Amino acid sequence: MVANMTLDEKLVMLHGPIDGDCCQCNYSSACAYVGNVPGNTRLDTPPITMNDGPQGFRGFVAHSSTAFPGGMAVAATWDPAAVYLWGSSMGQEFYDKGANVQLGPGLNVARVPLNGRNFEYLSGEDPYLGAQLAGQAVAGIQSKKVVATAKHWALNNQETNRQNVSSMVDERTRFEMYYPPFEAAVEAGAGSFMCSYNKIQAVWSCENPETLQTDLKDRLGFKGYVMSDWGATHTPSINAGLDMEMPNGFFLNPKLLTLGLDAGIISQEKIDDSLMRIFTPMFAVGVMDEPVSAWDWHKQWNNVTTAESIEAARSISAQGTVLLKNEGGLLPLHSSSSLALIGFASDGAITHGDGSGTVTPSRLVTPLQGVQEALTNDGSVVFEDGTDLDAAVAAARAADVAVVFVGTISSEGYDRASLSLDDGCDPSNFFEDGKQCVGNNHKQNDMVQAIVKANPRTVVVLSVPGAVVMPWANQVPAILTNFMPGQEVGHAIADVLFGKVNPTGRLPITFPNHEDEIDFTPGQYPGLGLEGIPEKVWPDFSYYTEKLLVGYRYYDAKGIQFSTGFPFGHGLSYTNFSYSKLRVRFGSVSLTVTNTGAVAGADIPQLYLNFPEKYGEPLWQLKGFKKTQVLQPGQHENVHFRLTKRDLSVWDVKHHAWTKAEGKFGVKVGASSRDIRLEGRMDVIGEGPEDRVVFA
Ligand code: GLC
Repeated sequence: MVANMTLDEKLVMLHGPIDGDCCQCNYSSACAYVGNVPGNTRLDTPPITMNDGPQGFRGFVAHSSTAFPGGMAVAATWDPAAVYLWGSSMGQEFYDKGANVQLGPGLNVARVPLNGRNFEYLSGEDPYLGAQLAGQAVAGIQSKKVVATAKHWALNNQETNRQNVSSMVDERTRFEMYYPPFEAAVEAGAGSFMCSYNKIQAVWSCENPETLQTDLKDRLGFKGYVMSDWGATHTPSINAGLDMEMPNGFFLNPKLLTLGLDAGIISQEKIDDSLMRIFTPMFAVGVMDEPVSAWDWHKQWNNVTTAESIEAARSISAQGTVLLKNEGGLLPLHSSSSLALIGFASDGAITHGDGSGTVTPSRLVTPLQGVQEALTNDGSVVFEDGTDLDAAVAAARAADVAVVFVGTISSEGYDRASLSLDDGCDPSNFFEDGKQCVGNNHKQNDMVQAIVKANPRTVVVLSVPGAVVMPWANQVPAILTNFMPGQEVGHAIADVLFGKVNPTGRLPITFPNHEDEIDFTPGQYPGLGLEGIPEKVWPDFSYYTEKLLVGYRYYDAKGIQFSTGFPFGHGLSYTNFSYSKLRVRFGSVSLTVTNTGAVAGADIPQLYLNFPEKYGEPLWQLKGFKKTQVLQPGQHENVHFRLTKRDLSVWDVKHHAWTKAEGKFGVKVGASSRDIRLEGRMDVIGEGPEDRVVFA
């Protein structure tokens, strides 16, 4: 088909509308979506209709699509099946809206706890977790004739100065710490990638031959196309590996490309390679089944929320809810309790973060509604939004149990001011449905302490965009987080609070004891400018000198213990599990998980490896996790982890390839990175036939 296209027909596909019109106008097919490439009427190929974002369809028709749980909330499920459901449910809504590219999933590793976009990202702070989940999101989205876009490639780990900052990251750190989730997206057949605003080693990401051509296309074997982030193109950088400029065509346009062709700087083969990269996923995913002649430009106006997507949003949010603490078995609540709900539990409920990934909910089930529906006639609930602290305290004192809904929001475009609940929750900050965070925004920590003083039987629910500090954590008996829970927050949190869903969520990021516990220098974050250069041309440099010590790896290296924070992988259940019979044999690690409690539940045992000292790897790193079936009290399951050669490898910068480590490995299995239940070791002594790893 590419061979049958004229040069003009080819070049028009490498950029968005040239005349400046771009995104989500509601009057022309040239700009109906966030990203627009016209169909070819002669060949009857479909247009490319791209839309945001990673947690649902963001459109100009408000309240007409489902606000799903955010990427971080989905990461907290630690459940590939839940991630697939998330992807396929979103993909269905994009398809029904007439979008054949979803600008998601967001996969950047949460290097910077304050990063304003951590809420959107599926990797948490660990590359292995991100890699196990990314492929499922891509597969789910693409199962619905919608091309997924892995973003933001690469090393876009902060919002501060995102248009200029230069991420200075060595090759081994890139491949071991930041690329694995994207590599999994490639392996899952992601049709497109989005290159990011930042620079890498002082070269713009969307014209960086090392990260685009060498790392992504040559070394990771990516066969789809790279689009720029919106306005992230600086030159006609097709030779560096950019295939499509979005949202307009200021650089990758026919005029400049033809000049390049005439000058022999750009080859016809390169143009055709970009076209092949664009069309191949369109064929593979099924986009080509909808010719432009049959295109319905009015699908944007449809309300695409369905009972299935609502059920999916509810169950995923419940599965992504992490029970951090439950002293004295205060939870689950009883349907006959008298409850006081305080804070963001009504219209001010927090559902999503802000920026291009925002989705205005097609409906909002508030926690108050969810709780009211879960109570029986002999139960009762009163609500105080917390602005009148005395009234809230009185309500708490009079109730059996007080449930305080606190939280904050973050956004694309800037990082959080702090990890405190008292920052970031200003309704005025947020466009679209600025109803969130209505209530007590800036004295939430004081409010929690006043409530738990009035009634020791207090539950705190945190709706947060990532890491948060909780100075009151030792005074509160029960704490949960549902991150950015999406529009079905009310039913989901009630399902967990009343035990209809036994929580299985696990922290995808460390909850620190205090601000900046990882001691970033300004050179690491937010970046150092060049002295004496005027700020407006500062190419800030953010040096990733921590290398592989991100998140729990740093906490392990420094031996940091937890007081008011919680470790990576942490999450409780309403029942208990014991681990036994660890067997480490020829790369397979197995154990028995037994439900030793009184109610049915599922667990997520985690496998961590310690590499032989000489490789200089972090002390421990996640190399396996598996959600068990729901186990009845007394029931057990034998869980098996199969370590691959890649799991045992490090990135060799001399040969620019993965190389298997050899020697004595430490093996531990735990219920979190710190709650270690079983330990063993494994000797890797070489390679046998068919490239198999040989163990002692
Ligand atoms: C934004 C974001 C990107 C989004 C795109 C289109 O600036 O960085 O994630 O998909 O532009 O809105």
